[in-house]
Amino acid sequence: MSMLRCVAALMIAVSVASLAVAEEDTRVKGHIDGAHGSAAVEPAASANMRLGTPLTSDDIAKWDRTIFPDGRGLPPGRGSAKEGRVIYEQKCARCHGEHGEGGTSEELVSGPTPPSPDNPSKAIGSYWPYATTIFDFVRRSMPPAAPGSLSADETYAVTAYLLAANAIIPESAEMNAETLAAVRMPNRDGFIWIDVKK
Ligand code: HEC
Repeated sequence: MSMLRCVAALMIAVSVASLAVAEEDTRVKGHIDGAHGSAAVEPAASANMRLGTPLTSDDIAKWDRTIFPDGRGLPPGRGSAKEGRVIYEQKCARCHGEHGEGGTSEELVSGPTPPSPDNPSKAIGSYWPYATTIFDFVRRSMPPAAPGSLSADETYAVTAYLLAANAIIPESAEMNAETLAAVRMPNRDGFIWIDVKK
């Protein structure tokens, strides 16, 4: 997930930089106002910085949505693997492979068994402990060119498709806030928790 982290870090860096400039502007303006009674310098100074535009509350709301492992934060909606297959083929397959086997990007499909020395796969089906993370990750970052563009129903559907392709749920199962949170991933017990009480 390094690319995602980089983008997030860059966005934060840019907004912190804009805040710093805004503060600096106020300080300079105050000084000029006090000394000469003129405010004309301030807008020109910030326009020349070309640091981008401040994040709006809509921009922030797109990122500020967390779904917890137990399903808290999941929106209303529903989707099936059948519907998800169509979305997957249109929006995901070119990077992740026609059947999730991987391409220019990660494999998304593996056997529904935890990783072992013989098969140390870190694909979501064998490695990830919670199915709800698939929904969270896809909604906030996939496809990379248009993160946040899938509706809740589309995200449930593509999540259902990935779970069915990993043989974790039946093809016919519908995913919604309750059923997705109830899915038990094969590697649920494969982690040593060091920062949370179970
Ligand atoms: C342009 C290429 C591209 C497209 C299209 C794309 N992805 Fe990805 N995907 C990536 C890359 C690159 C990563 C790794 C990102 C990272 O590590 O930060 C990734 C990571 C993922 C992961 C996490 C995999 C793991 O094991 O860590 C999931 C799940 C995923 N994508 C699902 C999807 C879904 C669902 C779609 C379609 C809606 C999609 N992707 C479309 C490039 C793509």
